Amino acid sequence: MSSQRKKIDLKRITRRSALGVFGIGIPSCIWAAGIEPNLLSITRKDLTLPRWPKALDGFRLAQLTDIHYRPGKDDDLIEKLLRALDEEKPDLITLTGDFVIEDPSSLPELCRELKGLSAPQGIIASPGNHDRWHCSTSQLRREIEGVGMTYLQNQATKLHIKGENLFVNGLDSIWGGHPNPTKAWKGHLKNEPVIALVHEPDPFDELHKNHPLDLQLSGHTHGGQCRVPLVNYRPVKVKFGRKFIYGHFQKNDSQLFVGRGLGTVGPRVRFASMPELVILTLRAS
Ligand SMILES: [Fe+2]
Repeated sequence: MSSQRKKIDLKRITRRSALGVFGIGIPSCIWAAGIEPNLLSITRKDLTLPRWPKALDGFRLAQLTDIHYRPGKDDDLIEKLLRALDEEKPDLITLTGDFVIEDPSSLPELCRELKGLSAPQGIIASPGNHDRWHCSTSQLRREIEGVGMTYLQNQATKLHIKGENLFVNGLDSIWGGHPNPTKAWKGHLKNEPVIALVHEPDPFDELHKNHPLDLQLSGHTHGGQCRVPLVNYRPVKVKFGRKFIYGHFQKNDSQLFVGRGLGTVGPRVRFASMPELVILTLRAS
C-alpha cells in the first residue's frame, strides 16, 4: 500500500473515532452521570401467587431498595419518590436494604427524609450489606424505628388484614451480616402467606426449598447499574447477585422480585438501569 493511501485510511479512522467519541461517548457520559441517576421510573406489576388468600387479592406493596443515600445529591430523587408513593397509595411499603454507601451519618439524614412515608399496613425494612458493613445493628434499629418503620433483621412480624395473617420477615444481609433463616421464620404458622425481605437475591434457590415462601423481595444488583442496551451486558457482577439480576422469577410456588433500586455505588452513574420504585399487586390464583 502506498504511503499516500495509508495516510488517507488513517485520517478516515481518526475522523470516525472522533465522531464516535463526540457523537455517542460524551452524550452517554453526560446522560449516565448527570441525568439518569436523577430520574425515577415506576414499575407496576401484577403477581399471581398460588398460595395467596382470596381475601388479600389486590394487595398492593411498594418496594424501595438500595437507596445508598448521598446527602445533597439524592434529594431531588427522594422528593420524586415520596411524591410517587403519595400518588400510588400502596397498602404496604417495604425497604430491602442498602440505605447507606459508607458514611453511617447519612442514615439519620435519610430517615428524616423518609419520615413522611405512610401506608395502611406500615413500612417494613431489612438491612443490606452496606448497612451491615458501616452501621451497627443498634444504630440501624434506632434510626429506622425512630421514624415509625419496622426493622427486621432475622425477625418477622405478622400483619392482620381482612381476617388473614400475613407473615413478613426480614433476613439479615447474606454478605454483610449473619443470616439466620430459622430465626427469620420463627413463629410462622402453616398456611400463612410469607413475604420475605432478603437484600441479596441469590439465596432464593435455597430459601424456597427449605422454607414456606410466597414472595421474596430483593435488590442488591442495581439491575447492573450501567448496562449496554440491546445486548443487555452489565459490566459489574456482584457477589450473591449473579443468578437473579433484575425482575420476576418463579420456582415452584415461590416467586422472587429483584428491583433495580434507587441509588448508586462507586461513581454516581446509571445507564440503561433507571432508579426504580416497584409497585406489586398480589393476586390470588
Ligand atoms: Fe446496593
